[in-house]
Amino acid sequence: MFENKTEGQAREAILAFVEEYYEKFHRDKQNWQEGQRISYASRVYGQEELRNLVDSSLEFWLTSGRYTEQFEREFAAYIGTPYCSLVNSGSSANLLAFMALTSPLLGERQIRRGDEVITVAAGFPTTVAPCIQYGAVPVFVDMAIPQYNLDVGQLEQALSEKTKAVMVAHTLGNPFDLKAVREFCSRHGLWLVEDNCDALGSEYFIDGAWKKTGSIGDIGTSSFYPPHHMTMGEGGAVYTSSPLLHKIIRSLRDWGRDCMCPSGTDNLCGHRFDRQYGELPAGYDHKYVYSHFGYNLKATDMQAAVGCAQLGRLPEFTKRRRENFARLKEKLAGMESCFILPEPCPDSNPSWFGFLITCRDGVDKNKLVGYLEGHGIQTRMLFSGNLVKQPCFDGMRSKQEGYRVAGSLKVTDLIMEKSFWVGLYPGMKPEMIDYMAEKLCGYQEMG
Ligand SMILES: Cc1ncc(COP(=O)(O)O)c(C=O)c1O
Repeated sequence: MFENKTEGQAREAILAFVEEYYEKFHRDKQNWQEGQRISYASRVYGQEELRNLVDSSLEFWLTSGRYTEQFEREFAAYIGTPYCSLVNSGSSANLLAFMALTSPLLGERQIRRGDEVITVAAGFPTTVAPCIQYGAVPVFVDMAIPQYNLDVGQLEQALSEKTKAVMVAHTLGNPFDLKAVREFCSRHGLWLVEDNCDALGSEYFIDGAWKKTGSIGDIGTSSFYPPHHMTMGEGGAVYTSSPLLHKIIRSLRDWGRDCMCPSGTDNLCGHRFDRQYGELPAGYDHKYVYSHFGYNLKATDMQAAVGCAQLGRLPEFTKRRRENFARLKEKLAGMESCFILPEPCPDSNPSWFGFLITCRDGVDKNKLVGYLEGHGIQTRMLFSGNLVKQPCFDGMRSKQEGYRVAGSLKVTDLIMEKSFWVGLYPGMKPEMIDYMAEKLCGYQEMG
């Protein structure tokens, strides 16, 4: 087959087959047929993703390489920050974002063990886990419905002389009140980490312009796990506008090393053998100088290759998510006496991850969720509900140590007991939305 072909020609021939393969065996898999289950999320992909994946595998570079470099550059431009680091998951992105703030390079503002970080309990556990794993103290504030984000009115009472940061997610794509939170952080000299894992593409009006969520605080994080706004299987990103934070993030991501040369490159700075670090001998190879106790959280170039293709689809994905939200909200308008429906945060334009519904008194959430699932509509909870009530908190809860609750978590508990969500992913067709609305409106028939 490859006789008389150059490597480039052979590769093109294989990639042409891959495109054909996509058309024959993948395209229709994404087409929902009446009677099929409606998932809360699903990957949407085309020929380009498969093509890039195979292209990268034929190169056999495997670790981060040219696709990673392209992805980091294009993703940073999309988000609106100068720096982006690709990692292997959203949880790793959160770990890096948090651990970056513990770097001694930050002087007085370094988060030390015992320092406090304000966050919420109704969210995904790995927004909070790095703080606990390090030995810092999460301080939980309550949520507000119908935005399902942190109640900014609780921030002042959560503050103590140990507070160093606010680290919180934009719930299911709905931005939290970034103006109030950022203002609170700058007034008290706190870091702001936006867990943007469920909000890629959401926008917020601040400083006279629309900006992407994740670009407004000090550090933003993304997840590219399949249900998210775009996917590369496993994957995540950490982004910032601060050159210092970027340097720390890269160091921690790449084994803790001081040198910033990408994989396979040496001596970009021209000073590989002529500097003095720590108590090492003068001129010790900079490639093996460690300024942090780091990890290796890099993704492979095959993941990045898929990401490059997905990134091109993001504007369309975002548009579809917004349309799906608007359609479902409109269809449920008459149900306000039974359900609390979600509202966007003022000054925001969310790229909705899901549609959160809170059952009013008299509507049994468990029964309703069972009814929907029984009719082929997949449902999800707001992740951990109240994280403090999860088994992972058993030891800390019984001793009342290692965390703090500012005020009460009454609304958090209400969300845990009465809220659930259904999907809005870009592959959802209008008839799927209409079916979900029909079942939600007709829930009384469940008896
Ligand atoms: C808000 C939030 N943060 C972090 C994560 C973790 O992302 P990953 O699954 O890529 O580790 C998730 C996962 O869904 C999430 O919803």
